[in-house]
Amino acid sequence: METELVHTSDNDISIIFSLVDKKGALLEALQQFQIADMNLTHIESRPSNNNPGKEYDFYTSCSGCSQEKIDNLLELLKPLVTSVSVEQNNTTKDEVIWFPHTIYDLDEFATQVIDYGEDLGSDHPGVKDPVYCKRRKEIANIAFNYKQGQPIPTVEYTTEEIQTWRLIFQGLTKLHPTNACQQYNQSFLQLVKNCGFCEDSIPQLETVSKYLKKCSGFQLRPAAGLWTSRDFLSALAFRVFPCTQYIRHSSKPFYTPEPDVCHEMIGHVPLLADPTFASFSQEIGLASLGAPDDYIKKLATFYWFTMEFGVCNENGERKAYGAGLLGSVEEIQYFLTDKPTVLPFEPEKIVLQDYPMLELQPLYFLADSFASAQEKLKSYAATIPKPFVLRYNPYTQSVEELDQLSVNKLASDIQADVELLQKAVQKAI
Ligand SMILES: [Fe+2]
Repeated sequence: METELVHTSDNDISIIFSLVDKKGALLEALQQFQIADMNLTHIESRPSNNNPGKEYDFYTSCSGCSQEKIDNLLELLKPLVTSVSVEQNNTTKDEVIWFPHTIYDLDEFATQVIDYGEDLGSDHPGVKDPVYCKRRKEIANIAFNYKQGQPIPTVEYTTEEIQTWRLIFQGLTKLHPTNACQQYNQSFLQLVKNCGFCEDSIPQLETVSKYLKKCSGFQLRPAAGLWTSRDFLSALAFRVFPCTQYIRHSSKPFYTPEPDVCHEMIGHVPLLADPTFASFSQEIGLASLGAPDDYIKKLATFYWFTMEFGVCNENGERKAYGAGLLGSVEEIQYFLTDKPTVLPFEPEKIVLQDYPMLELQPLYFLADSFASAQEKLKSYAATIPKPFVLRYNPYTQSVEELDQLSVNKLASDIQADVELLQKAVQKAI
């Protein structure tokens, strides 16, 4: 049996233990909490990854625990469990990490990008082209000066830029009908119809943003470069997608080490128009608000294996839905080979998975559907230590911490919705 102890103080803690699946085992373990005078506030279980089918892991939270009580409980539990560990819940009501509460709070950090203007990495095909660097900076400045709610300025793309777009558009649209998921292909056709998606012009962010808002409530916000994981994920919570407007260097139309307008428009935009996918994307963002740094890393990894390199099962066939796949001819062709490993969709494993950023992906995780992936994400997100529960208010485009007053209001709203549902069902009958 392994026992892991970390520093604890007279505060809130989590105790995680594993039990062999036998009658009465959990009751006996929980009785030890009572004997040790621990204030148990939360418990949940799941099948153990170490011994699936034979063992269960239990996650418990306790409040106001002294070190003496914790030590006593561990001594009582050791003979009953196969493993036990204690973790300090560091985030208390007074120590909450700052996060945006309204869509307008995104202005607070939207200019703090990792890459900007001429500071291109040495592997960027445009790094030695001063004309390209100047142009990229000029377009990025739109984002740098942008405030939430303003119309997004138009970029007059050059003939050379449109030619780069054309090559990518032609290459990818040949592969999508047979390799992209059905929701992507349907949305793409609507973008052709409603936003003029075609090989001869690069879509304008403002046009696409207005269209997305009508379809799913998502909107685009110009990005001057890569946002940090925390900032990027928090924007998704408000159904805002940070979107680059500049295009990759024309010397390598099928390679870019960073997101560009081709990756955003062809890779991300079509599925952001799909309401179920939009809801799934927002869920990742909501999970990130106020989460500790180690969980932001985990959620960014989850984002990578879903919105960037997600694959799903469609009538027994593997289809792509991630933008890193759908926006890259090379990645789609590689995905069609038997080289990459495809694993089942398990958020607890996904968040811990290492991956290369600038190479073809050695593995993907296969989701059954966006809805089931969202449900699994919700279960995982419930394990993120946060001293509050948040609810998104679409009327004010803000998040609210649920206290007693707002819980009562929520209950009344749900009651009204249930009554509406009952009326609709009666009419249908
Ligand atoms: Fe992306």
